[in-house]
Amino acid sequence: MLELKHLSYAVHEDGGELGILNDISLTVGDGRLVVFTGPNGGGKTTLAKSIMGLVKPTAGQIFWNGRDITDLGITERARLGISYGFQQPPRFKGLTVRDLLTLASGDERLSKDRCCQYLTRVGLCANDYLDREVDASLSGGEVKRIEIASILARQGKLMIFDEPEAGIDLWSFARLTETFEQLHAAGGATMIIISHQERIISLADEVIVVGEGRLRHRGTPAEILPRILADTLGACPVLTKEAMAQ
Ligand SMILES: Nc1ncnc2c1ncn2[C@@H]1O[C@H](COP(=O)(O)OP(=O)(O)O)[C@@H](O)[C@H]1O
Ligand SMILES: [Mg+2]
Repeated sequence: MLELKHLSYAVHEDGGELGILNDISLTVGDGRLVVFTGPNGGGKTTLAKSIMGLVKPTAGQIFWNGRDITDLGITERARLGISYGFQQPPRFKGLTVRDLLTLASGDERLSKDRCCQYLTRVGLCANDYLDREVDASLSGGEVKRIEIASILARQGKLMIFDEPEAGIDLWSFARLTETFEQLHAAGGATMIIISHQERIISLADEVIVVGEGRLRHRGTPAEILPRILADTLGACPVLTKEAMAQ
């Protein structure tokens, strides 16, 4: 179980303090699939990074299976089964896709079959990719999918995916959605997926709209999806003000 208690993250800007995350409390039960959604700049990535230990909260605590992990580093959290896929994954020159999957899995040598299974789940063919380096020669969408495959290979207990849909074609996206659905049905892992995609949002046990560093709304996909549509189709506050001034 993951528990966030009064989590805040503030930065100093122009002499003042800017709250990026503001007093967030949340519990995610084992085996649950929670989707964070909401406008860009709302704080979703910062929230995910604080769970992974990439951002150090300025207040509050994070508990994982009852243990306070607030002060633990990334490596220690990874050992406890927490993994995070970057919104924009880094590239690793000199490391092949097979190396990356092997490292992630913790096995000394990952069989081609196993690599193939992970890559197929993100819509890539092992024959084309196993010996490729994870460097600038790969497209953004390819790197993204390879990173997701490495998280699958890690077989963590808490998997956090930051906008897995970014840069991914429709065919691979369909495969990826199916993969999330199967992982969730298998029940072994807790998943937090940051996404704007209706198909991913629909898979969630709980959808949480994050905005201005707060949990704005939460509910089932059926409760939240119409709200998101209404929000996005709503009037632009700036334009509305202009119209009123005329
Ligand atoms: N270290 C930082 N310094 C200043 N601003 C930051 C820092 N980290 C994040 N932000 C700002 O916090 C807000 C939330 O960012 P982010 O978590 O990436 O949002 P999201 O993932 O929801 O788009 C953005 O306005 C971003 O520019
Ligand atoms: Mg983000």
